[in-house]
Amino acid sequence: MNILVTGGAGYIGSHTCKELFRAGFQPIVFDNLSRGHSRAVKWGPLIQGDLSDRELIERCLRENQVEAVLHFAAFAYVGESVSDPGLYYRNNTGGTLNLLQAMKTVGVRRLVFSSTCATYGTPVFLPITENHPQQPINPYGQSKLMSERMILDFGPAHGLQSMILRYFNAAGADPEGELVEDHEPETHLIPLAIRAALEGTALRIFGTDYDTPDGSCIRDYIHVSDLARAHVLALQRLLDGGASGIHNLGTGKGHSVLEVAAAVEKVTGKRLRQEISPRREGDPAVLIADSIRARSELGWTPTHDDLEEIIRTALRKPG
Ligand code: UFG
Repeated sequence: MNILVTGGAGYIGSHTCKELFRAGFQPIVFDNLSRGHSRAVKWGPLIQGDLSDRELIERCLRENQVEAVLHFAAFAYVGESVSDPGLYYRNNTGGTLNLLQAMKTVGVRRLVFSSTCATYGTPVFLPITENHPQQPINPYGQSKLMSERMILDFGPAHGLQSMILRYFNAAGADPEGELVEDHEPETHLIPLAIRAALEGTALRIFGTDYDTPDGSCIRDYIHVSDLARAHVLALQRLLDGGASGIHNLGTGKGHSVLEVAAAVEKVTGKRLRQEISPRREGDPAVLIADSIRARSELGWTPTHDDLEEIIRTALRKPG
């Protein structure tokens, strides 16, 4: 069964292609390669294209007799979204609208969408459930929330069945070493901490004056292969005729930046030089998921939820 995977050359998309293939699906990657890598497309064909090209999306859906779409393609740098919001609304929100219109035209009615805890904004209670208010504090979160709303509107209007998956902090890489985390520039804590430990450079700690036990920010780090498996479960549920749904994906456990730094030292066996820096703008003190719904409705259980294990899988360098 052919599944179109937009953004399948990216970090989470490529890991999901591996899981799809393993579960007996045929991923067909649609990616403009602006931030993804063709070397990460290993489990099916790559169609190099942009979501602004609606005709091309329609042709891909039709010619490959696509049964469902997994939609990852998006820009995901919070800072960049603040300095260039138009880029995010055009690529993320506009791209999603084009995809939805193309799916409607061709009659593809199943969609799994890559959303984010950034749609919640600053938490008003913890852990964050799917019913938490959605008040994004940056254009990246807004662009994803607007996409969610469009997807939900296409349900009753056009019969679209959808699964919206809101990830917390995606981390780690394929435990079998076939894929790596490969962002340019890299902004995420775990790869930067590993790089600093191995190269002997300093890791900046953005704020140690938060209202948390050690003063640094707390995040819920979820292994990318666990995210990938959740997508396959969500897809299977849609294909089995299950109702549309919205699910948080996290472990429910929080780790502070200083705990991550200590775990990186332990896993690499190297001392990590730390440079205490001012807070990074827009960082909430604590983000922790309540993922009970994904566990009960999708039958999903994160299997790599040990921080040191996550870091161990992230050690391999981009090739
Ligand atoms: N951090 C540092 N030093 C660094 C990098 C990060 O101290 O060099 C800290 C951050 O301030 C934050 C934590 O490490 O407290 C995690 O930061 P990341 O950049 O790894 O991840 P974020 O929590 O900022 O971002 C993630 C996703 C985004 C998403 C966001 C939602 O990567 O796509 O969660 O809040 F928008």
